[in-house]
Amino acid sequence: MIAEKLLLPARGSWTAPRRIFGNAQRLLRTHAFRLAALYFLVFAVSVLSVLLFVYWTSADFVERQTEATLDAEITGLAEQYAQRGLSGLVQIVAARSAGDRGDGMLYLVTDPNGVPLAGNIAAWPAGVPAHGGRLSFTTTARVKEQVETHPAQGASFIIPGGYRLLVGRDISDATAFRNRVKITLLWAGLVALGVGLLGGTAMSRNLLRRVEQVNRTSERVMAGNLSDRVPLDGTSDEFDQLAANLNRMLDQIERLMTAMREVTDDVAHDLKTPLSRLRVRLELALLGPVDGSSQTEAIRSAIDEADRLLATFNALLSIAELESGTRRDESEALDLSEVARSAAELYEPVAEEKGFLLSLATEPGVRIRGSRHLLSQALANLLDNALKYAGGGEIQIRVLRGEDRAALEVTDRGHGIPEDERETVFDRFVRLERSRSTPGNGLGLSLVRAIMRRHRGTVELADNRPGLRVRLEFPELVT
Ligand SMILES: Nc1ncnc2c1ncn2[C@@H]1O[C@H](COP(=O)(O)OP(=O)(O)OP(=O)(O)O)[C@@H](O)[C@H]1O
Ligand SMILES: [Mg+2]
Repeated sequence: MIAEKLLLPARGSWTAPRRIFGNAQRLLRTHAFRLAALYFLVFAVSVLSVLLFVYWTSADFVERQTEATLDAEITGLAEQYAQRGLSGLVQIVAARSAGDRGDGMLYLVTDPNGVPLAGNIAAWPAGVPAHGGRLSFTTTARVKEQVETHPAQGASFIIPGGYRLLVGRDISDATAFRNRVKITLLWAGLVALGVGLLGGTAMSRNLLRRVEQVNRTSERVMAGNLSDRVPLDGTSDEFDQLAANLNRMLDQIERLMTAMREVTDDVAHDLKTPLSRLRVRLELALLGPVDGSSQTEAIRSAIDEADRLLATFNALLSIAELESGTRRDESEALDLSEVARSAAELYEPVAEEKGFLLSLATEPGVRIRGSRHLLSQALANLLDNALKYAGGGEIQIRVLRGEDRAALEVTDRGHGIPEDERETVFDRFVRLERSRSTPGNGLGLSLVRAIMRRHRGTVELADNRPGLRVRLEFPELVT
């Protein structure tokens, strides 16, 4: 045990490097890092190209200047030689070599044995051929009491008779200038690369941080915290927009989840009673006397109950299908009056039987785009309600035209719906206290609203003094 303990390194000493290594590995795998690396690479290549170009052009410029001076000098001397011969050449070389003219020009004329005749160089430079054309050599110069070796460039010629001529230029200033440029550019390059590296890192870190925020929020949401949201920076940039959109999406999901939970709760609650009733009926039939007629009666009422249950399920499914938008689109251009007329014809006999007066008032040519089947279903639900809750009197169906809106109204003369309940009656399974004695599930108006939303229309309840006025409004189809 003790030996093992001794062998183990102190905790902090190796977890820290491992963590750093892990972080570095994670960073290497990120898109942000690759982006930053690419940014840095492009930046480095452009900076280096610019610097190389600057170096190359300035060095080239100095070199050309030296060459031009040399060429001019050689041409001048050649003219002198042509006009005045060797002695003229020696004279002009001697004149030009006298004193320090500050232009760094070097001259030397020697006889065939290499003995200097005129010039500002003590002797023919070692290792330099006499007819080398363009050449580089070194020369000694006296700078502040010190003798220095300077680089030089020039050209040499053999003059008829074996005499030699060397024309050159001390290029130590140019070389120093070139070195200075080189060092300056090197520093500039290093600074620029450093800035690029810092910029890339900062960019990558910022990018990474914001992606991390989205990641962490989605992880928390997946873990069950549906109310968590991505923090916004307030910069309105793409990341903020992404965060805002994600948050809106989460809001929507949360809303749908809550709505779904409510529906599931409602369904479980509201279907329990009819199912228990069904079960009790069947049980009683089983326990009761084995006499044909009462059992048949029990089975018939069980079937009725089952039918009601099925109808409820169907209504719920239709609403869900309409609200989720998964239903097939069967819309067509249609005349609203036609839909109203066929519904009125269908309900006329029932209305009459129940002592109602059903009337229809339509404006011609009110056209909309919609599903005939769904609209008939909505209208049937409204007429059904009027017949169920109004008690008697006139039920009117009206088709009207508003400002580029088409409207369909169903009015009755019952006791209507109190103002503070006109919103809640659209919720699933909501039935008003006074209507509990009539059969129904409280799904009719929910279905009407779902159908209207599907048609990009609205449904409004109003007071008909007395009675209820239900107004359906649609965008009118202009042809
Ligand atoms: N024309 C009306 N007059 C008075 N009250 C009404 C009228 N229409 C609807 N209501 C009230 O609104 C409630 C909800 O109506 P809805 O059509 O959604 O359900 P329901 O008629 O009770 O049942 P279902 O339509 O599913 O058979 C009704 O229970 C009733 O209390
Ligand atoms: Mg109804």
